[in-house]
Amino acid sequence: MKFLITAGPTREPIDPVRYISNRSSGKMGYAIAEAALDAGHQVILISGPVNIEPPQNAKFVSVSTSDEMFDAVRRHADKCDACVLCAAVADYKPAAVSPTKIKKRNETISLELIRTRDILDLLGHRQDRQFLVVGFAAETNDLEQNAMQKLRDKNCDLMIANDVSSTNSGMESDANEVTVFFKNGERQKISRAPKEIIARELVKIFQVLQQKCLTKKM
Ligand code: CTP
Repeated sequence: MKFLITAGPTREPIDPVRYISNRSSGKMGYAIAEAALDAGHQVILISGPVNIEPPQNAKFVSVSTSDEMFDAVRRHADKCDACVLCAAVADYKPAAVSPTKIKKRNETISLELIRTRDILDLLGHRQDRQFLVVGFAAETNDLEQNAMQKLRDKNCDLMIANDVSSTNSGMESDANEVTVFFKNGERQKISRAPKEIIARELVKIFQVLQQKCLTKKM
């Protein structure tokens, strides 16, 4: 199979020296890329800024902003069998980017933020898409309800949900615990394990689903 995987955070510039971002480490996305390569698949890894070496055998596309990630995904998606959008894309970006460093003047300052494009939503709703679309749902509460809602709203084939409320699972951690939600309402829990192990299980699930879709089309 050919995988497109997004990973890491995005950075939305405020001025030449400042940006809005989040705590995503990219570990889960990179682990999925490594697991897919180990299983003999091809990988295009589109990554925001992280402190991890890219896998040697992947095609690596480095991006910074949500707009750059959007463009890279759009460029490569049609060549792939599955798009796994693991990145923590910023939901908002500054309405205007100051060309010069913003000076400290008043006691308070307001920043107007506008919505970024939802890459997963746009990909899921592509009319003619031939590839699987897999989303991730990082939740601090109502995990199941929110994940199922995102699966439906963004028209994904799978939604991988993880609880980011505790410190030993999810963001920045080396371990994770996820529940995979399928379109037909089925779910599969993968218990707490190192992200490499979780990634291996996920790649197996993607493969099985891809096979099922191919069989249906024949
Ligand atoms: N996502 C995306 N583009 C965005 C925002 C999110 O592609 N602009 C994708 C993420 O890569 C992830 C999924 O959407 O696969 C869910 O991200 P999450 O942050 O959990 O949800 P949001 O849709 O941003 O909703 P909310 O912040 O309200 O939970």
